[in-house]
Amino acid sequence: MRIILVGLGALGQGLLGHLGEQADSLLDAYGLRAKIVAALDTSGAVVQPAGLDPAVLLRTKRSRGGLAGLQPYFRPGRRALEIIHTVDADAVVEVTPTNILDGEPAMSHIRGALKARRHVVTANKGPIVLAMGYLTSLAEEMGAILRFSGTVGGGTPMLDLARHSLRGDRVVSIAGIVNGTTNYILTRMGEGLAFEEALEQAKKLGYAEANPAYDVEGTDAAIKLAILSNWAMGTRLRVTDVSARGIKEVTLADIERAQAQGKVIKLIARCDGKVASVQPELIPKTDPLNVPGPLNAVTYTTENVGPITLVGKGAGGRETAGALLRDLIDIHLRSK
Ligand SMILES: NC(=O)c1ccc[n+]([C@@H]2O[C@H](COP(=O)([O-])OP(=O)(O)OC[C@H]3O[C@@H](n4cnc5c(N)ncnc54)[C@H](OP(=O)(O)O)[C@@H]3O)[C@@H](O)[C@H]2O)c1
Repeated sequence: MRIILVGLGALGQGLLGHLGEQADSLLDAYGLRAKIVAALDTSGAVVQPAGLDPAVLLRTKRSRGGLAGLQPYFRPGRRALEIIHTVDADAVVEVTPTNILDGEPAMSHIRGALKARRHVVTANKGPIVLAMGYLTSLAEEMGAILRFSGTVGGGTPMLDLARHSLRGDRVVSIAGIVNGTTNYILTRMGEGLAFEEALEQAKKLGYAEANPAYDVEGTDAAIKLAILSNWAMGTRLRVTDVSARGIKEVTLADIERAQAQGKVIKLIARCDGKVASVQPELIPKTDPLNVPGPLNAVTYTTENVGPITLVGKGAGGRETAGALLRDLIDIHLRSK
Protein backbone atom coordinates (compact mmCIF):
# COMPACT_ATOMS: atom_id res chain seq x y z
CA MET A 1 0.00 0.00 0.00
CA ARG A 2 1.46 3.33 -1.09
CA ILE A 3 0.76 6.03 1.48
CA ILE A 4 0.95 9.83 1.46
CA LEU A 5 1.39 11.04 5.04
CA VAL A 6 0.13 14.59 5.60
CA GLY A 7 1.33 15.87 9.00
CA LEU A 8 4.41 14.79 10.91
CA GLY A 9 3.54 15.77 14.48
CA ALA A 10 2.91 13.39 17.37
CA LEU A 11 0.61 11.13 15.34
CA GLY A 12 2.48 11.20 12.03
CA GLN A 13 5.67 10.33 13.92
CA GLY A 14 3.87 7.68 15.96
CA LEU A 15 2.68 6.05 12.76
CA LEU A 16 6.19 6.10 11.28
CA GLY A 17 7.38 4.38 14.49
CA HIS A 18 4.80 1.60 14.15
CA LEU A 19 5.46 1.11 10.42
CA GLY A 20 9.21 0.90 11.01
CA GLU A 21 9.05 -1.44 14.02
CA GLN A 22 6.25 -3.67 12.74
CA ALA A 23 7.13 -3.94 9.05
CA ASP A 24 7.79 -7.70 9.21
CA SER A 25 4.80 -8.59 11.37
CA LEU A 26 2.44 -6.49 9.22
CA LEU A 27 3.62 -8.40 6.18
CA ASP A 28 3.36 -11.80 7.90
CA ALA A 29 0.01 -11.26 9.58
CA TYR A 30 -1.87 -9.24 6.97
CA GLY A 31 0.23 -9.26 3.81
CA LEU A 32 0.52 -5.50 4.27
CA ARG A 33 3.58 -3.82 2.81
CA ALA A 34 3.14 -0.16 3.72
CA LYS A 35 5.24 2.22 1.68
CA ILE A 36 5.44 5.93 2.49
CA VAL A 37 5.75 7.52 -0.96
CA ALA A 38 5.41 11.10 0.30
CA ALA A 39 5.32 12.88 3.65
CA LEU A 40 4.53 16.51 4.41
CA ASP A 41 4.74 19.09 7.15
CA THR A 42 4.48 22.88 6.95
CA SER A 43 7.96 23.16 5.39
CA GLY A 44 7.12 21.11 2.31
CA ALA A 45 7.18 17.52 1.10
CA VAL A 46 9.55 14.63 0.71
CA VAL A 47 8.66 12.44 -2.24
CA GLN A 48 10.08 9.06 -3.18
CA PRO A 49 7.85 6.74 -5.26
CA ALA A 50 10.01 3.76 -4.29
CA GLY A 51 9.19 4.38 -0.61
CA LEU A 52 10.90 6.27 2.20
CA ASP A 53 12.42 4.39 5.12
CA PRO A 54 10.16 5.25 8.12
CA ALA A 55 13.10 5.26 10.55
CA VAL A 56 15.14 7.65 8.37
CA LEU A 57 12.12 9.88 7.84
CA LEU A 58 11.49 9.98 11.59
CA ARG A 59 15.11 10.78 12.38
CA THR A 60 15.24 13.52 9.75
CA LYS A 61 11.98 15.13 10.91
CA ARG A 62 13.29 15.19 14.48
CA SER A 63 16.68 16.59 13.48
CA ARG A 64 17.34 20.32 13.69
CA GLY A 65 17.08 20.91 9.94
CA GLY A 66 13.81 18.95 9.61
CA LEU A 67 12.64 17.47 6.30
CA ALA A 68 15.12 19.64 4.34
CA GLY A 69 17.78 17.18 5.50
CA LEU A 70 16.24 14.43 3.37
CA GLN A 71 17.98 15.12 0.07
CA PRO A 72 17.39 14.66 -2.84
CA TYR A 73 13.74 13.98 -1.98
CA PHE A 74 12.82 17.26 -0.29
CA ARG A 75 10.56 19.66 -2.20
CA PRO A 76 10.33 22.92 -0.21
CA GLY A 77 6.97 24.64 0.03
CA ARG A 78 5.02 21.89 -1.72
CA ARG A 79 1.42 21.69 -0.53
CA ALA A 80 -0.52 18.56 0.30
CA LEU A 81 -3.20 18.90 -2.40
CA GLU A 82 -0.59 19.18 -5.12
CA ILE A 83 1.17 16.06 -3.83
CA ILE A 84 -2.13 14.16 -3.50
CA HIS A 85 -2.90 14.95 -7.14
CA THR A 86 0.51 14.23 -8.58
CA VAL A 87 2.02 11.37 -6.59
CA ASP A 88 0.66 7.87 -7.22
CA ALA A 89 -0.71 6.44 -3.97
CA ASP A 90 -3.40 4.15 -2.59
CA ALA A 91 -4.09 5.98 0.66
CA VAL A 92 -3.67 9.36 2.35
CA VAL A 93 -3.17 9.64 6.10
CA GLU A 94 -4.34 13.10 7.22
CA VAL A 95 -3.00 14.21 10.62
CA THR A 96 -2.78 18.00 10.52
CA PRO A 97 -4.16 20.07 13.46
CA THR A 98 -7.90 20.06 14.16
CA ASN A 99 -9.92 23.11 13.17
CA ILE A 100 -13.60 22.89 13.99
CA LEU A 101 -14.64 26.14 12.35
CA ASP A 102 -14.25 25.04 8.75
CA GLY A 103 -12.16 21.87 9.07
CA GLU A 104 -9.28 23.35 7.03
CA PRO A 105 -6.74 22.48 5.80
CA ALA A 106 -7.76 18.88 6.50
CA MET A 107 -11.17 19.21 4.85
CA SER A 108 -9.60 20.10 1.49
CA HIS A 109 -6.96 17.38 1.85
CA ILE A 110 -9.54 14.69 2.61
CA ARG A 111 -12.01 15.82 -0.05
CA GLY A 112 -9.22 16.09 -2.63
CA ALA A 113 -7.88 12.66 -1.74
CA LEU A 114 -11.31 10.99 -1.98
CA LYS A 115 -12.08 12.74 -5.27
CA ALA A 116 -8.77 11.36 -6.57
CA ARG A 117 -10.06 7.91 -5.47
CA ARG A 118 -7.50 7.53 -2.68
CA HIS A 119 -8.52 5.86 0.57
CA VAL A 120 -8.27 8.16 3.59
CA VAL A 121 -7.33 7.59 7.23
CA THR A 122 -7.54 10.48 9.67
CA ALA A 123 -7.65 11.29 13.39
CA ASN A 124 -8.67 14.86 12.62
CA LYS A 125 -11.92 15.70 14.37
CA GLY A 126 -12.65 18.90 12.36
CA PRO A 127 -13.76 17.50 9.01
CA ILE A 128 -15.36 14.45 10.64
CA VAL A 129 -17.58 16.39 13.04
CA LEU A 130 -18.46 18.96 10.38
CA ALA A 131 -19.07 16.63 7.46
CA MET A 132 -19.06 12.92 8.34
CA GLY A 133 -22.15 12.28 6.18
CA TYR A 134 -20.85 14.14 3.14
CA LEU A 135 -17.35 12.64 3.32
CA THR A 136 -18.54 9.05 3.82
CA SER A 137 -20.91 9.33 0.85
CA LEU A 138 -18.19 10.96 -1.24
CA ALA A 139 -15.91 8.03 -0.37
CA GLU A 140 -18.62 5.55 -1.39
CA GLU A 141 -19.29 7.36 -4.65
CA MET A 142 -15.56 7.30 -5.48
CA GLY A 143 -15.10 3.65 -4.49
CA ALA A 144 -12.70 4.71 -1.73
CA ILE A 145 -12.69 3.94 1.99
CA LEU A 146 -12.65 6.61 4.72
CA ARG A 147 -11.63 5.61 8.27
CA PHE A 148 -11.34 7.79 11.37
CA SER A 149 -11.05 5.51 14.43
CA GLY A 150 -8.54 7.81 16.12
CA THR A 151 -10.90 10.81 16.32
CA VAL A 152 -12.48 9.55 19.58
CA GLY A 153 -10.78 7.62 22.38
CA GLY A 154 -7.23 7.92 21.00
CA GLY A 155 -6.10 4.34 20.49
CA THR A 156 -9.04 2.84 22.41
CA PRO A 157 -11.36 1.38 19.76
CA MET A 158 -14.55 3.20 20.75
CA LEU A 159 -15.86 3.73 17.22
CA ASP A 160 -14.81 0.27 16.04
CA LEU A 161 -16.60 -1.42 18.94
CA ALA A 162 -19.86 0.36 18.16
CA ARG A 163 -19.95 -0.61 14.50
CA HIS A 164 -17.90 -3.74 14.04
CA SER A 165 -18.43 -5.69 17.26
CA LEU A 166 -22.12 -4.91 17.66
CA ARG A 167 -23.46 -6.08 14.32
CA GLY A 168 -27.13 -7.05 14.59
CA ASP A 169 -27.52 -5.01 17.74
CA ARG A 170 -28.42 -1.34 18.17
CA VAL A 171 -26.84 1.29 20.40
CA VAL A 172 -29.70 3.12 22.13
CA SER A 173 -27.67 5.43 24.34
CA ILE A 174 -24.12 6.55 24.99
CA ALA A 175 -22.54 7.89 28.18
CA GLY A 176 -18.84 8.50 28.41
CA ILE A 177 -15.77 10.30 29.56
CA VAL A 178 -14.13 11.38 26.34
CA ASN A 179 -11.75 14.10 27.51
CA GLY A 180 -8.71 12.95 29.45
CA THR A 181 -7.58 16.42 30.56
CA THR A 182 -10.77 17.21 32.48
CA ASN A 183 -10.92 13.71 33.94
CA TYR A 184 -7.37 14.15 35.22
CA ILE A 185 -8.26 17.53 36.78
CA LEU A 186 -11.40 16.15 38.48
CA THR A 187 -9.44 13.13 39.76
CA ARG A 188 -6.80 15.39 41.32
CA MET A 189 -9.50 17.64 42.80
CA GLY A 190 -10.91 14.46 44.39
CA GLU A 191 -7.52 14.16 46.13
CA GLY A 192 -7.88 17.70 47.52
CA LEU A 193 -6.09 19.83 44.88
CA ALA A 194 -7.73 23.12 43.86
CA PHE A 195 -8.84 23.46 40.21
CA GLU A 196 -5.96 25.79 39.25
CA GLU A 197 -3.35 23.52 40.86
CA ALA A 198 -4.77 20.44 39.16
CA LEU A 199 -4.79 22.31 35.82
CA GLU A 200 -1.13 23.29 36.31
CA GLN A 201 -0.26 19.62 36.96
CA ALA A 202 -2.17 18.61 33.82
CA LYS A 203 -0.13 21.13 31.79
CA LYS A 204 3.15 19.90 33.30
CA LEU A 205 2.33 16.32 32.39
CA GLY A 206 1.40 17.31 28.83
CA TYR A 207 -2.30 16.43 29.24
CA ALA A 208 -3.49 20.02 28.85
CA GLU A 209 -2.65 22.52 26.12
CA ALA A 210 -1.19 25.95 26.96
CA ASN A 211 -4.73 27.22 26.22
CA PRO A 212 -6.91 24.63 27.92
CA ALA A 213 -10.28 26.36 27.27
CA TYR A 214 -11.24 23.83 24.61
CA ASP A 215 -11.00 20.98 27.13
CA VAL A 216 -12.10 22.76 30.31
CA GLU A 217 -15.23 24.29 28.74
CA GLY A 218 -16.40 20.93 27.38
CA THR A 219 -15.96 21.76 23.68
CA ASP A 220 -13.59 18.87 22.93
CA ALA A 221 -15.97 16.44 24.66
CA ALA A 222 -18.95 17.87 22.73
CA ILE A 223 -17.13 17.35 19.42
CA LYS A 224 -16.29 13.76 20.34
CA LEU A 225 -19.83 13.05 21.53
CA ALA A 226 -21.22 14.31 18.21
CA ILE A 227 -18.82 12.03 16.29
CA LEU A 228 -19.58 9.01 18.53
CA SER A 229 -23.28 9.42 18.41
CA ASN A 230 -23.48 10.16 14.67
CA TRP A 231 -21.36 7.06 14.05
CA ALA A 232 -22.90 4.67 16.57
CA MET A 233 -26.52 5.80 16.53
CA GLY A 234 -26.89 7.46 13.12
CA THR A 235 -27.85 10.83 14.62
CA ARG A 236 -26.99 14.01 12.74
CA LEU A 237 -25.70 16.11 15.59
CA ARG A 238 -23.66 19.23 15.04
CA VAL A 239 -21.41 20.42 17.85
CA THR A 240 -23.86 23.25 18.52
CA ASP A 241 -26.64 20.69 19.14
CA VAL A 242 -24.74 19.41 22.19
CA SER A 243 -25.46 21.46 25.30
CA ALA A 244 -21.99 21.73 26.81
CA ARG A 245 -20.97 22.83 30.28
CA GLY A 246 -17.39 22.30 31.38
CA ILE A 247 -15.80 21.83 34.78
CA LYS A 248 -14.82 25.40 35.66
CA GLU A 249 -17.66 25.79 38.15
CA VAL A 250 -16.96 22.55 40.01
CA THR A 251 -15.62 23.40 43.48
CA LEU A 252 -13.77 21.35 46.09
CA ALA A 253 -16.88 21.67 48.27
CA ASP A 254 -19.01 20.04 45.51
CA ILE A 255 -16.50 17.20 45.30
CA GLU A 256 -16.46 16.68 49.06
CA ARG A 257 -20.29 16.64 49.16
CA ALA A 258 -20.29 14.02 46.39
CA GLN A 259 -17.74 11.90 48.26
CA ALA A 260 -19.85 12.01 51.42
CA GLN A 261 -22.68 10.42 49.38
CA GLY A 262 -20.41 7.69 47.95
CA LYS A 263 -20.35 9.48 44.60
CA VAL A 264 -17.90 11.25 42.29
CA ILE A 265 -18.23 14.18 39.90
CA LYS A 266 -17.30 13.38 36.31
CA LEU A 267 -17.61 15.29 33.05
CA ILE A 268 -20.10 13.02 31.31
CA ALA A 269 -20.92 13.16 27.60
CA ARG A 270 -24.36 11.68 27.10
CA CYS A 271 -26.74 11.06 24.20
CA ASP A 272 -29.97 9.07 24.04
CA GLY A 273 -30.47 9.59 20.33
CA LYS A 274 -32.45 12.80 20.87
CA VAL A 275 -30.81 14.91 23.58
CA ALA A 276 -27.05 15.34 23.78
CA SER A 277 -25.16 16.95 26.64
CA VAL A 278 -21.74 17.36 28.20
CA GLN A 279 -21.82 18.37 31.85
CA PRO A 280 -20.42 17.55 35.28
CA GLU A 281 -22.59 14.77 36.75
CA LEU A 282 -22.71 12.90 40.02
CA ILE A 283 -22.18 9.18 39.44
CA PRO A 284 -21.85 6.34 41.97
CA LYS A 285 -18.26 5.36 42.83
CA THR A 286 -19.13 1.87 41.58
CA ASP A 287 -20.16 3.08 38.09
CA PRO A 288 -17.76 1.64 35.48
CA LEU A 289 -17.37 5.20 34.15
CA ASN A 290 -15.58 6.13 37.38
CA VAL A 291 -12.12 5.87 35.80
CA PRO A 292 -9.13 7.77 37.22
CA GLY A 293 -6.56 10.20 35.80
CA PRO A 294 -6.50 10.89 32.07
CA LEU A 295 -8.36 7.69 31.16
CA ASN A 296 -11.38 7.69 28.87
CA ALA A 297 -14.39 5.38 29.13
CA VAL A 298 -17.60 4.89 27.21
CA THR A 299 -20.72 2.91 28.04
CA TYR A 300 -22.89 1.90 25.11
CA THR A 301 -26.32 0.66 26.09
CA THR A 302 -27.52 -1.67 23.38
CA GLU A 303 -30.89 -3.25 22.66
CA ASN A 304 -29.71 -6.87 22.97
CA VAL A 305 -26.77 -6.81 25.36
CA GLY A 306 -27.49 -3.85 27.65
CA PRO A 307 -24.60 -1.74 28.90
CA ILE A 308 -21.06 -2.39 27.63
CA THR A 309 -18.18 -0.26 28.91
CA LEU A 310 -14.82 0.23 27.26
CA VAL A 311 -11.96 1.91 29.15
CA GLY A 312 -8.58 3.05 27.84
CA LYS A 313 -6.16 5.87 27.16
CA GLY A 314 -7.85 8.64 25.21
CA ALA A 315 -4.84 10.29 23.63
CA GLY A 316 -1.10 10.04 23.04
CA GLY A 317 0.91 9.96 19.83
CA ARG A 318 1.89 6.30 19.98
CA GLU A 319 -1.56 5.17 21.16
CA THR A 320 -3.58 7.14 18.62
CA ALA A 321 -1.16 6.17 15.86
CA GLY A 322 -2.22 2.61 16.74
CA ALA A 323 -5.73 3.59 15.59
CA LEU A 324 -4.29 4.93 12.30
CA LEU A 325 -2.50 1.63 11.79
CA ARG A 326 -5.68 -0.38 12.51
CA ASP A 327 -7.53 1.70 9.92
CA LEU A 328 -4.80 1.15 7.32
CA ILE A 329 -4.90 -2.62 7.94
CA ASP A 330 -8.69 -2.57 7.66
CA ILE A 331 -8.51 -0.74 4.32
CA HIS A 332 -5.83 -3.12 3.07
CA LEU A 333 -7.93 -6.18 3.95
CA ARG A 334 -11.10 -4.71 2.46
CA SER A 335 -9.55 -3.57 -0.79
CA LYS A 336 -7.62 -6.78 -1.49
N1 LIG B 1 -1.96 13.64 19.65
C1 LIG B 1 -3.03 12.96 20.03
O1 LIG B 1 -3.01 12.27 21.06
C2 LIG B 1 -4.30 12.99 19.22
C3 LIG B 1 -5.37 12.13 19.57
C4 LIG B 1 -6.53 12.13 18.79
C5 LIG B 1 -6.64 12.97 17.69
N2 LIG B 1 -5.60 13.81 17.38
C6 LIG B 1 -5.75 14.66 16.19
O2 LIG B 1 -4.85 14.22 15.18
C7 LIG B 1 -4.34 15.32 14.44
C8 LIG B 1 -2.82 15.33 14.54
O3 LIG B 1 -2.45 15.41 15.90
P1 LIG B 1 -0.94 15.64 16.36
O4 LIG B 1 -0.92 15.56 17.84
O5 LIG B 1 -0.02 14.80 15.54
O6 LIG B 1 -0.75 17.18 15.91
P2 LIG B 1 0.61 18.03 15.88
O7 LIG B 1 1.63 17.39 16.74
O8 LIG B 1 0.20 19.44 16.09
O9 LIG B 1 1.12 17.87 14.36
C9 LIG B 1 0.50 18.44 13.26
C10 LIG B 1 1.36 18.24 12.04
O10 LIG B 1 0.68 18.76 10.89
C11 LIG B 1 1.62 19.53 10.14
N3 LIG B 1 0.83 20.50 9.35
C12 LIG B 1 0.13 21.56 9.78
N4 LIG B 1 -0.47 22.16 8.73
C13 LIG B 1 -0.10 21.48 7.62
C14 LIG B 1 -0.36 21.62 6.23
N5 LIG B 1 -1.14 22.59 5.76
N6 LIG B 1 0.19 20.71 5.38
C15 LIG B 1 0.98 19.72 5.83
N7 LIG B 1 1.27 19.53 7.13
C16 LIG B 1 0.73 20.40 8.02
C17 LIG B 1 2.54 20.14 11.17
O11 LIG B 1 3.73 20.55 10.54
P3 LIG B 1 5.01 21.08 11.36
O12 LIG B 1 5.67 19.84 11.95
O13 LIG B 1 5.86 21.71 10.31
O14 LIG B 1 4.47 22.02 12.39
C18 LIG B 1 2.72 18.96 12.11
O15 LIG B 1 3.72 18.10 11.63
C19 LIG B 1 -4.98 16.57 15.05
O16 LIG B 1 -6.10 16.89 14.24
C20 LIG B 1 -5.40 16.11 16.44
O17 LIG B 1 -6.54 16.82 16.92
C21 LIG B 1 -4.43 13.83 18.11
